[in-house]
Amino acid sequence: MTTELFEQLDFIENPLFETIITELLQKQFSIVNDFFSLEEVEILRNSLVAKYEADRFKKSAIGNRINEEIDKTIRGDFILWMDEKNANEAELLFFKKINELVKYLNKTCFLGILYKEFHYAVYPKGSFYKRHLDTFQNDDRRKLSLVCYLNEADWLPENGGELTIYNEKDALNILPLPGRLVIFESQILEHEVKIVKASERMSITGWLKTR
Ligand code: OGA
Ligand code: MN
Repeated sequence: MTTELFEQLDFIENPLFETIITELLQKQFSIVNDFFSLEEVEILRNSLVAKYEADRFKKSAIGNRINEEIDKTIRGDFILWMDEKNANEAELLFFKKINELVKYLNKTCFLGILYKEFHYAVYPKGSFYKRHLDTFQNDDRRKLSLVCYLNEADWLPENGGELTIYNEKDALNILPLPGRLVIFESQILEHEVKIVKASERMSITGWLKTR
């Protein structure tokens, strides 16, 4: 086989990723149901719960790690940053899929994503995250925000914890359903996490960043 043919085979159009790109261009966000299967969600949730129960999570802060200021009136979640280099099996599964998406975005969109950062998040009952933009203070490198929900399959609307995305016209409420991935433009869309009324809301949140 010639090298040219190899190069062509290297790019296979991915309809799901194409939909994400189209939606990001049209409305600055995309919602993908079943980005992770329920089995994958369970594996990831088990990983989260094991670390949470081992007390490895910390109260989230406002601002980045240079400027930490804990304020429960703005945000009440607990987080644990993920370390891809020391990933367990669940996390390898997570990063494999995310890296495929990043590779695709870089090939087709010239986004120049060079870095990524992800953390687990747990919102206990009664917690929330007030309306904000993800590119606060001294980090304007965040291009795309990603949230993957790891809740049980029976998460009900009454449980609250919706992600609300604001654009000029309206507010869109998105339930944190297991396997659902929400991806949006970090520098453009303000959003919030509505108060969690029952149970614990579990997710992985992260950012794709330029230099
Ligand atoms: C965040 C955030 C949204 C969500 O962590 O910055 O906005 O739905 N999370 O968890
Ligand atoms: Mn946010």
